Amino acid sequence: MKSFVISLFLMGSIGSIKGQETIISTDVDIAQKLVQRKTKVNRMGNYEKTSIIGLSQEDLLKVSEIAHEKQRCGGYFVHETLEEARQATVDLTKAPEKRIYTTKDTDIVRALVLDVKEKNIKDLIVHLSSYQNRYYQSDTGVKAANDIRDRWSKYADAKLYPHAKWKQPSVIATITGSKYPEEVIVLGGHLDSISGFLGGTKSRAPGADDNASGIATTTEVLRIISESRYKPLRTIQFMGYAAEEVGLRGSNEIASDYKARGIKVVGVMQLDMTNFKGSDQSIFLTTDYTNPDQTEFLSKLIDLYVKVPHSKTKCGYACSDHASWTKAGYSAVFPFESSSSEMNKKIHTDKDTIDVSGSNADHAVNFAKLALAYLIEMDLQGIKISL
Ligand code: BES
Ligand code: ZN
Repeated sequence: MKSFVISLFLMGSIGSIKGQETIISTDVDIAQKLVQRKTKVNRMGNYEKTSIIGLSQEDLLKVSEIAHEKQRCGGYFVHETLEEARQATVDLTKAPEKRIYTTKDTDIVRALVLDVKEKNIKDLIVHLSSYQNRYYQSDTGVKAANDIRDRWSKYADAKLYPHAKWKQPSVIATITGSKYPEEVIVLGGHLDSISGFLGGTKSRAPGADDNASGIATTTEVLRIISESRYKPLRTIQFMGYAAEEVGLRGSNEIASDYKARGIKVVGVMQLDMTNFKGSDQSIFLTTDYTNPDQTEFLSKLIDLYVKVPHSKTKCGYACSDHASWTKAGYSAVFPFESSSSEMNKKIHTDKDTIDVSGSNADHAVNFAKLALAYLIEMDLQGIKISL
């Protein structure tokens, strides 16, 4: 339940903001720190855990700075309107509905996972890292999105999804379902990269782990499904989101658009950072801003098809695009490469290259297998098949 609290924080004076105001929602303590540091913010609402504030584009950097000081990384959502921001303050960690997902334990998945090729994933990580950056406002960021669209076109109907407020488009490839085309299963990750808090159109941001790894893993899964004899019953969409590193903006627009159009997305898997093996366990299932029933389902899929040790982790904030889908009311899952304490320290720097992960894509192979299992087993939910 939304509980609106009028606090001292709300009663302060409203600062004047230079230039265009950006509306964000962020944690209450982060908003308070901004005020303490005399940042000009327009205080628009204070909820149990979340504050809605308006501030200048430049001051957005301070939000990331404060969140990082608190070991939380970025930790904010950009909103187009105050109304949208208000809707986002519902407790995102709660599942919309309870559902039991059953596994079919099928030869179809067992055959497909054998087809995952480490070299394909590695080569694409290296290729995508060779762009100076994939920043959402840079020419190379736009080129990289076009490149991904071209690659995905070999396997499915791939299109750019343009965004009005910045240059870089998102990319969506579709395999239309043969029986329930109106039901959609999504696999994706962000295609942009950033270096430092400031980013910048010229700075070097290879983003090998964050998140060429997720895009390369997604591409390998798309290749395998499209080249296989398996014809999905539901529609499967592969997504490369623009502008994640600057507030989940690409995925937020897509998920809001899907919600507005009433598109029935039955599940979303986010792949963001799949290739740095920082921990003994292999796959860490994110338990916040995700759907608990589908996360439980992932545990079973790992045991059945991937057969690697796994455990749970928390981001502690809306750290990647799965949160955009959760916010729009959909069920999302987010398997992650390491525990949060053993994460890749080179992300968001010019040192985020594949050699940090041993110059191979061995770890990402597990995520490709899990994604294949998720897509096929989600596709077969409620379907009778003879094994
Ligand atoms: N891949 C990261 C998120 C991440 C980092 C997850 C470390 C788990 C461990 C993502 O690309 C990112 O950087 N997100 C931003 C948040 C966004 C709202 C600006 C972040 O964490 O600062
Ligand atoms: Zn990042």
